Amino acid sequence: MKRDLISMLDVKDDLEKIINLAIKLKGKAKNGESIELLKGKTLGMIFEKSSTRTRVSFEVGMTKLGGHAIFLSKNDIQLGRGETIEDTALVLSRYCDILMFRAMSNESMKDLAKFSTVPVISGLDDKEHPCQIVTDLMSIKEHKGKLKGLNLVYIGDGGNNMAHSYLLGCAIVGMNVKIVAPKNYWPDDYFVKEAKKFDIKLDVTDVVDNCTTNADVVATDTWVSMGDEKEKEKRLRDFQSFTVNGSLMSLAKKDAIFLHCLPAYYGYEVTKEVAHGKQSVIFDEAENRLWAQIAIMVTLCK
Ligand code: CP
Ligand code: NVA
Repeated sequence: MKRDLISMLDVKDDLEKIINLAIKLKGKAKNGESIELLKGKTLGMIFEKSSTRTRVSFEVGMTKLGGHAIFLSKNDIQLGRGETIEDTALVLSRYCDILMFRAMSNESMKDLAKFSTVPVISGLDDKEHPCQIVTDLMSIKEHKGKLKGLNLVYIGDGGNNMAHSYLLGCAIVGMNVKIVAPKNYWPDDYFVKEAKKFDIKLDVTDVVDNCTTNADVVATDTWVSMGDEKEKEKRLRDFQSFTVNGSLMSLAKKDAIFLHCLPAYYGYEVTKEVAHGKQSVIFDEAENRLWAQIAIMVTLCK
């Protein structure tokens, strides 16, 4: 049976194992040891949306594993001219050993996974961003030495892919999670319901004042995700009191870290002072996309 990663729930039984493998392989590679665990394998990467980190980190990761990656922009393949996802999946499965998809919608993502005979990894859709959350948890573990019992506070668009995957990812590893967002931007009920099945403290609120008190991790993401551009002006108005700034960070624990999956829009979801400040680990986080995805590909190809 092939295995996909399109929701954090797909790794609920071995998430910590994947994180530990990522940390181990990162150490080995930095030590000059070979990590060519997918020699001769090919990764097909289909993009319906822009990307810097996902595109480069998957391609570099596959090279480090001894394999090869092919970049397939939707507009350059027949998918953009109306070939079905079903046929695309069936054909690409004949050439590639693994597929990565950055999709406009979760429906397309599920379709590709359904018809593909090789593992499909989500490089984000409108509901979740699982590779980023595996990465963020890896980064938290590196900086804090543990995950269970830590408090993560996410401030911003609570209904986007990052917020949803944080809810599930934190729940799986036993981290308490608070989502702070205007009421119209709260997470889909499904993700709250699933996260509540785990033994953690979970809170969704629109109260920004003091929301970071006792936080070990403060996180945010853009207020205008890819696909939300039409609502940009309204969103900028609705979110204006939700900026992560120095005073919110100063209420968190002294050793709290700041995360942002990037790209960041300074002055909106976070000030540049915080994002480039001493508590920020955003560039370690960006680097860790590489190592987390290496561990994910190795695990799914087993
Ligand atoms: N964080 C992230 O997924 O970045 P890209 O959009 O650049 O891939
Ligand atoms: N929530 C953002 C994440 C970008 C990496 C988006 O979907 O655009």
